[in-house]
Amino acid sequence: MQKSVIHLEGIRKSYFLGKNELPVLKGVSLDIYKNEYVALMGPSGSGKSTLMNILGCLDTPTDGKYVLSGHDVSKMEDNDLATVRGKEIGFVFQQFNLMPRLTALENVAIPLVYAGVGKKEREERAITMLKKVGLGERYKHKPNELSGGQCQRVAIARALVNNPSLILADEPTGNLDSKTSVEIMEIFGHIHASGNTVVLVTHEEDIAEHARRVIRLRDGVIESDRINEKVAVL
Ligand SMILES: Nc1ncnc2c1ncn2[C@@H]1O[C@H](COP(=O)(O)OP(=O)(O)O)[C@@H](O)[C@H]1O
Ligand SMILES: [Mg+2]
Repeated sequence: MQKSVIHLEGIRKSYFLGKNELPVLKGVSLDIYKNEYVALMGPSGSGKSTLMNILGCLDTPTDGKYVLSGHDVSKMEDNDLATVRGKEIGFVFQQFNLMPRLTALENVAIPLVYAGVGKKEREERAITMLKKVGLGERYKHKPNELSGGQCQRVAIARALVNNPSLILADEPTGNLDSKTSVEIMEIFGHIHASGNTVVLVTHEEDIAEHARRVIRLRDGVIESDRINEKVAVL
């Protein structure tokens, strides 16, 4: 039996606007196993980001069960959730979400500050990660001195620096031109090939072709969950 990194059972999520309930996820159940590469697709508003935020422990479901790497996180309080998030999750956002006043190096090192790693080791590990994403030389630059593609490389290095068990990326190429998008997708390919579990949201079919498994969401439920035979198993 393979080990689930993600186990979801009947996940529901509603937003409450005053007295009005807006149901967004309407019962999502699935398992994602170690070293899978999953593309999550679906029309705008179908609940992809809502699901990713739950997977990333940035938000909690209204109902249902979420077991992440053996921890039942569905009923955890914020503090415990933040601890699990720091250890288990690397999140890459469309808008990069870098700290504008910090250098690339300092941005990448943030998760290590929270993990209590000393300054020298933080810097060494951050530089190693920046080299891995092809940004070895620009580590003293701040986000406004970097291109969009370079910012996303910094954000990817930050997501990886803590060796998380799960890498989540919500439309990571949504703000990038097509050439840069291809380069960023190659990095995700390498991340997966080096043994990571990756879940990536995209609405572009050519990007989803890099993933072996494609899950489609529609109106808050899974519409289809297919294996792409053209992508080899590692
Ligand atoms: N914080 C929020 N409060 C209220 N409604 C929200 C919130 N976040 C998302 N929604 C609504 O939930 C639905 C799904 O949004 P989202 O998960 O962002 O979809 P997707 O990422 O697939 O485009 C949309 O109708 C959106 O307007
Ligand atoms: Mg979204």
